[in-house]
Amino acid sequence: MSAKLVTILCVFVCLEVVFAGKAQKKDEYEDVYGDMGEADVQKDGTPDYYDDYTDNNNVNDNAGVEVENIKLLSKSAVFANQIGESVLLPCESTSNDPVRVWKKGLAILYQGSVNTQDKKNLKLHPNGSLSIQIEDPSDYGIYYCTLLVSVNERPTVTYELIDRNPRIASIRTQTNETVFSVGDELTLTCQPEGNHNVKITWHKNNVRLAPEGETITIPSLTATDGGLYRCLADKGNGIKPDHMHIEIFVNHAPIVSVQEYLVNSDHLNDVEFVCKVDAYPAPQVQWRRDNSILNRNEPKIKIMHEDGNSRNTLVVKDLSERDFGTYSCIATNAYGSETKNISLVRIPVVRKLEKNINESTKDVILQWKVESKQAITSHELQYRRKGETTWKTISPAVSAGENDVYLIKHTLKNLDPGIYETRARSKNSHGWSNYSEIMPFEGTKHGAHHQKSKHNKKEPKPKAQDPSLDTPAQHRSEGTVGESVSASTHLYSSTCLLSVATFFLVYFQFRQLS
Ligand SMILES: *[C@@H]1O[C@H](CO)[C@@H](O)[C@H](O)[C@H]1NC(C)=O
Ligand SMILES: *[C@@H]1O[C@H](CO)[C@@H](O)[C@H](O)[C@H]1NC(C)=O
Ligand SMILES: *[C@@H]1O[C@H](CO)[C@@H](O)[C@H](O)[C@H]1NC(C)=O
Ligand SMILES: *[C@@H]1O[C@H](CO)[C@@H](O)[C@H](O)[C@H]1NC(C)=O
Ligand SMILES: *[C@@H]1O[C@H](CO)[C@@H](O)[C@H](O)[C@H]1NC(C)=O
Repeated sequence: MSAKLVTILCVFVCLEVVFAGKAQKKDEYEDVYGDMGEADVQKDGTPDYYDDYTDNNNVNDNAGVEVENIKLLSKSAVFANQIGESVLLPCESTSNDPVRVWKKGLAILYQGSVNTQDKKNLKLHPNGSLSIQIEDPSDYGIYYCTLLVSVNERPTVTYELIDRNPRIASIRTQTNETVFSVGDELTLTCQPEGNHNVKITWHKNNVRLAPEGETITIPSLTATDGGLYRCLADKGNGIKPDHMHIEIFVNHAPIVSVQEYLVNSDHLNDVEFVCKVDAYPAPQVQWRRDNSILNRNEPKIKIMHEDGNSRNTLVVKDLSERDFGTYSCIATNAYGSETKNISLVRIPVVRKLEKNINESTKDVILQWKVESKQAITSHELQYRRKGETTWKTISPAVSAGENDVYLIKHTLKNLDPGIYETRARSKNSHGWSNYSEIMPFEGTKHGAHHQKSKHNKKEPKPKAQDPSLDTPAQHRSEGTVGESVSASTHLYSSTCLLSVATFFLVYFQFRQLS
């Protein structure tokens, strides 16, 4: 054995140890879901995260060794496959007969054509490609093919073989029907391909449902149970799961909703009303003003029905006297009818009162919005202890509004402890608005730290939306991954130093022998 070959082998082993350490760094897969095509995983090009260590192939400068011009043609990639499948990892080079070493992690699989591990599920082809018949989870991992060109030329191609989530073969109802009646039982079955130990989760309209497993049952359907049901097959391997959906319809009478029941505007303005309808089958939707049907041919009126009449818009332009009044959105199907009214007024509209507590003084802060196209001339705030018949009236100062919205804030100081109620109204050139809804609140006194109101804290409502659906969630915490990587890199660095020391020992012994 020549000293040169020993040199090559020693440095090679040392570097491989370092590469194997770095390979652990690559570890995050997106958990966004969309269609998981093979293209998402089986990348043809070199993934970014391999760059940092394939570039490091030439870290050791050993001058004096001639460089042969042999190049590796295969590109690093990730292969996602299941047990029972086989993969072919190519290791093509510009040389007809290069010296190749195939490794899995730190273990050498093939040195030249010798199957060092004697693994029956591996096959080395004459062209250098490695076939792996995946038999059990130990076959997953990182594979390297390195060409032993020279000391400072050891091109390596890296493959990661990962456990793929199974595809979903079908999602269906018990009868294959998708239209149901209120009270029916619904059973949904989601069938993954093959026989896998995989978790099936369910979402309805992108919100995660509690039940898991291949079959879920809703014993008695209600009107709102219709929607898009989706199942996901996830092994918890950090790879986006496959998914499939089915749309379920429940026959029911329309459920109508409008954003505001009271809307302020004034002459010459335009106004837009939106009426949302949930119904199956699709409803007929009609707009009326003071009980007479609005005709879409009227020049001042624009009517739009979208998404199977689920979103209905009425625009009235260039408002005049007769346009103020009560607008009705009426939705009808074979199962019934519902109407929601919207009043269009020129007097101000007072929106919901809100309460807060000044934490330092314990005073009650009342806050509300008033909408008015015409300038507001007065605000009025009334409050009383609950049970009292007479209101105390306050006239908060009128400050300028912004885009026809006035924000009023009033602090009630030194209230005796107890339960109170309050309401407000405002006036413009068309008159006084109706009073707002009455809002209860709790009076507190300065220094009464223990009397924290139950009502004054606005707690942020937890979102029902499953975060995994719209944000890429990581399956593993980044912190711990980073730590374990740096720890193992340290370990590998020390191993490398040891190898270098061993190399010099062996090298000098050879020098003395020859
Ligand atoms: C190498 O040989 C195998 C088996 O004959 C073949 O399937 C594969 O396509 C070949 N790969 C290349 C890169 O030629
Ligand atoms: C539903 O459809 C599937 C696939 O088309 C079929 O195999 C199954 O027998 C059907 N089930 C019923 C109850 O019709
Ligand atoms: C809606 O307004 C119309 C016209 O003013 C009225 O006849 C009807 O009773 C109202 N309907 C509802 C549900 O308030
Ligand atoms: C609370 O009261 C203090 C003293 O009157 C005042 O300076 C502070 O601005 C108030 N805080 C709020 C949020 O209104
Ligand atoms: C104002 O209040 C009166 C009496 O409660 C009610 O009849 C009327 O419909 C209200 N007006 C509006 C625009 O809400």
